[in-house]
Amino acid sequence: MTGAARRLLPSPTARLRFREMREDDLDQIAEMLGDPEVMAFYPAVKTHAESAEWIARMQERYREHGHGLWVIETHDGEFIGDCGLTWQSANDAPVLEVGYHVRRASQRRGYATEAARACVELVARELAPTLLTAIIHPANTASRGVAENLGMTHIDDDRAHPWIVRTVMGMQVAPA
Ligand SMILES: CC(C)(COP(=O)(O)OP(=O)(O)OC[C@H]1O[C@@H](n2cnc3c(N)ncnc32)[C@H](O)[C@@H]1OP(=O)(O)O)[C@@H](O)C(=O)NCCC(=O)NCCS
Repeated sequence: MTGAARRLLPSPTARLRFREMREDDLDQIAEMLGDPEVMAFYPAVKTHAESAEWIARMQERYREHGHGLWVIETHDGEFIGDCGLTWQSANDAPVLEVGYHVRRASQRRGYATEAARACVELVARELAPTLLTAIIHPANTASRGVAENLGMTHIDDDRAHPWIVRTVMGMQVAPA
């Protein structure tokens, strides 16, 4: 899609609200994406400069597609991480993906599941019927746990990269 898209945002949940990333989120996002535990299943941690580029890429996604990864924060404004919807590629085909990162101090409290469920509801309201995926490193149990909580099942293996076979979790989302 080209040009400016209508901007979407998931509804607030019991504990969380969503908003677009801003330049002044850089310190918190760089701390999260610079954490070796959070980035254990990525090729490398991100530097401050790479995190700034990443925020800029998300802002470009909001403009082009109307969605991207959004900041998730508590209703008091405490930064928790990010969660949202991006176009990815699985076996060279475009697929809509729900993605999530939760800063280490806030993990294992159900935040990613709660945020991802709000994203599924947004998909049902605005983008369905569609396949929604989560493309996951096969050893990333936490990420798979979130996908399974959403009702996703293992639908494919992404073999587009010679160095890794990634697990494609997915579900069909019907219109709300
Ligand atoms: C994946 C991630 C976002 C999960 O966030 P979270 O808020 O801790 O997830 P939840 O609390 O909603 O947990 C989801 C499920 O996974 C399980 N889980 C979470 N962390 C786990 C871990 N480290 N090991 C095993 N299981 C785990 C939970 O028990 C839960 O299952 P349950 O509901 O049956 O109890 C978080 O671990 C993270 O940021 N990881 C690094 C970034 C990443 O890999 N993102 C995904 C890229 S595909």
